Amino acid sequence: MKTSDIRSAFLDYFRSKGHTIVPSSSLVPASDPTLLFTNSGMVQFKNVFLGSEKLSYVRAADVQRCLRAGGKHNDLDAVGYTARHHTFFEMLGNWSFGDYFKRDAIAYAWELLTQVFKLPADKLWVTIYHTDDEAFDIWNKQVGVPAERIVRIGDNKGAPYASDNFWQMADTGPCGPCTEIFYDHGAAIAGGPPGSPDEDGDRYIEIWNLVFMQFDRAPDGTLSPLPAPCVDTGMGLERLAAVLQHKHSNYEIDLFAHLIRVAGELTGTKDLGNKSLRVIADHIRACSFLIVDGVLPSNEGRGYVLRRIIRRALRHGWMLGVRGDFFWKMVQPLVEEMGEAYPELPAKQAFVEDALRTEEHRFGETLEHGMRLFDDIANKSRAAKSGETISGVDAFRLYDTYGFPVDLTADIARERGLEVDMAGFEQAMNEQRARARAAGKFEAKGQMPAELASELKPTIFLGYEALQSEGSKVLGIVRGGKQVDQLGEGEEGLLILDRTPFYAESGGQVGDTGTLSNAAGRFEVADTLKMGGVFFGHAGRWHGGRPLRTGDTVEARVDASRRQAIVLNHSATHLLHAALRQVLGTHVAQKGSLVAPERLRFDFSHHKPMSHDEVARVEAMVNAEVRRNAAAEVHNMGYDQAIEFGAMALFGEKYGDEVRVLKMGDFSTELCGGTHVGRTGDIGLFKIVSEAGVASGVRRIEAVTGAGALAWVVDEERRLAEFAQLLSSSGDEAVEKLRQLFDRQKKLERELESLRSKAAGSATADLAGAAKDVGGIKVVAARLEGLDAKSLRDSVDQLKQQLGDCVVLLAGAAEGRVALIAGVHGRALERVKAGNVVAHVASQIDGKGGGRPDMAQGGGTDTPNLPAILAALPSWVAAQ
Ligand code: ALA
Repeated sequence: MKTSDIRSAFLDYFRSKGHTIVPSSSLVPASDPTLLFTNSGMVQFKNVFLGSEKLSYVRAADVQRCLRAGGKHNDLDAVGYTARHHTFFEMLGNWSFGDYFKRDAIAYAWELLTQVFKLPADKLWVTIYHTDDEAFDIWNKQVGVPAERIVRIGDNKGAPYASDNFWQMADTGPCGPCTEIFYDHGAAIAGGPPGSPDEDGDRYIEIWNLVFMQFDRAPDGTLSPLPAPCVDTGMGLERLAAVLQHKHSNYEIDLFAHLIRVAGELTGTKDLGNKSLRVIADHIRACSFLIVDGVLPSNEGRGYVLRRIIRRALRHGWMLGVRGDFFWKMVQPLVEEMGEAYPELPAKQAFVEDALRTEEHRFGETLEHGMRLFDDIANKSRAAKSGETISGVDAFRLYDTYGFPVDLTADIARERGLEVDMAGFEQAMNEQRARARAAGKFEAKGQMPAELASELKPTIFLGYEALQSEGSKVLGIVRGGKQVDQLGEGEEGLLILDRTPFYAESGGQVGDTGTLSNAAGRFEVADTLKMGGVFFGHAGRWHGGRPLRTGDTVEARVDASRRQAIVLNHSATHLLHAALRQVLGTHVAQKGSLVAPERLRFDFSHHKPMSHDEVARVEAMVNAEVRRNAAAEVHNMGYDQAIEFGAMALFGEKYGDEVRVLKMGDFSTELCGGTHVGRTGDIGLFKIVSEAGVASGVRRIEAVTGAGALAWVVDEERRLAEFAQLLSSSGDEAVEKLRQLFDRQKKLERELESLRSKAAGSATADLAGAAKDVGGIKVVAARLEGLDAKSLRDSVDQLKQQLGDCVVLLAGAAEGRVALIAGVHGRALERVKAGNVVAHVASQIDGKGGGRPDMAQGGGTDTPNLPAILAALPSWVAAQ
């Protein structure tokens, strides 16, 4: 049975049992920030188990793409070393949401395996959670599995409910006891039944896990019952295919056989059993589907897991001797194998290939050097007998300079019987982070003295509603990193108030400027920044009749027009983000943002330059939203609620329990602490002024809004008017005119060129006529204006042709310098060499030169004596 037939037979069976067939969800869990990747079929139903989401059906089945690389379930290191581990795999699953429970779940599984897939019942073993007598009875009495093939498994992982037969999605969330079905591959393969000391062998392989979801695990480990008991099952498609295709290893099934064959061709590897080919075949699936689901290689979060998998595959290609790129070429055979079951894959094929190729080129540049360094390090640690360990500092160097993720280094080390000092690596990494932090200017500038931080309450921010406030109290003054009591006339410092309308720089939005004043004077605020996370530091200078003291009250006044310009740019940034995701795809994620009064800057993940058309569409889409003039609504809510509300959050970013959600129409919903417009129409006009790359896979858009956009347009208009004036025409006519001017210029240049060569021709004719005869040798020496070296050489050649036995010296003068070219021809060569002629003349004009006997060149200064020097050449030749 082919893998594709197994998928459909599974779904057909459960459809016939009243199950709704649902599509596979993305590898990136849609609304679960606790989970890195979809690691099983139940992830998309998590909230249904918890009771917070209701579906229109109570039975479902699907084939779910899953990834176990990073997070609680991580098989990355095992891939290549065992017959059945994968990073990416497909899980066949059926679910009951408060409908059927143990009895039916077990009966369905048994019927499907023995009746539809026709597995011999005596080859199947089952395990149950040690206290689950109910499951035991169903298996034994109802299904008829003999007691000796039902194994009870207890808490074998060192804690209550930590068991192979107690399944949990992650450290928190739905969980419950389970029963697993194993297939016995026969006595020819080593290994014992589940629960026995040899259970890790390959003979008894788990193929299906039926989980009886009953509890929700809280972060402190306590279990509370779910609203209704549910069923969650998962069967590894690849394992089942191996059984049904009578293969021992998953990598021998039809799907992998094809991928491995192509990998063998691409890497020139004949032995198709080579473990590196298995790694490549496994990893191309993980990488392609991650990219399909919007993940791109990067140095953090999901993108870093992807990068690690790609680089691991590339290193295996390298071991097989590949020195160019190859990995992206595996996408095509993958599409052939899986495109039908997952149409999203062929739809994004070119994008996936592109992204892989980019990463391949990038790592290809350092892989070779990194491997050489690794060899040096390995030899060094062997020689030093340093416990056969790669030091943390060396592993860090491989990471930092050569892009070797530390688990890749560990993988290579393992092959050579070495270990990596992981703690040392972490330390080196932390030290680098600390260095980077110390270099951060604002952090240093905004350092909060510890004694002050412990005394004060967090600053209250009034600036969402107001730009001015009265009676703010100066709670602390910081100068040069230390707490002081007062600031004298002209002194700079940081003021911390109890409450303030000034926005402190964060989330890309720059800090406010303005004034803090009282009867004694004014403090000019040049910037506002966060100090110690929760205090707003007003950075500026005091001008007053007496010093400003702690305890003073001030009137705060934000520079309103500057703030307004910032606000427009900030709201426009949200619209831009949403528009980019619509036009380019949901892989677009914010990588950085600067919201200043003059312009906004937005960095985002995208692997190639945007076309003019894409830029124009994004701009038009944002402007359409501006004209729609939707209200910008702000909602404060819990983080989970916000995610459910559909808010876009940045993965890897820390958010508090309470978050602020900004929603503009149905177009954009994002978590944001910044200040925003009342309605989108306030933005007025949105204009993209540049689109460029800033790093591999990261693009940057700069744009202007409101009065800034108008000023930009006016400035463009002024420039165009200047062009139009110069061209004495405007609009399309001016463009046409410019084109004509260019054409004409080209024509004139060609004409000039031919006139020049004609002029040079007639000049040489004149010169030939004026040649002096020195004992049968013709001598020509002349100064020519404005000829370049090439024309001079051509003229010398022509004269040599015309005159036969001759000595020719031409001096091309331009801007005070002369270029000298001499040619000697025929019998004249018996008398004099061209090099000597040039040297003779050059020596008299502060220059030098040399060359072959028949042709030489040099140069010198253009002096008033030059004509006389040249006139004397015939007599010099005569004297030779
Ligand atoms: N969620 C269960 C598993 O992944 C079925 O094994």
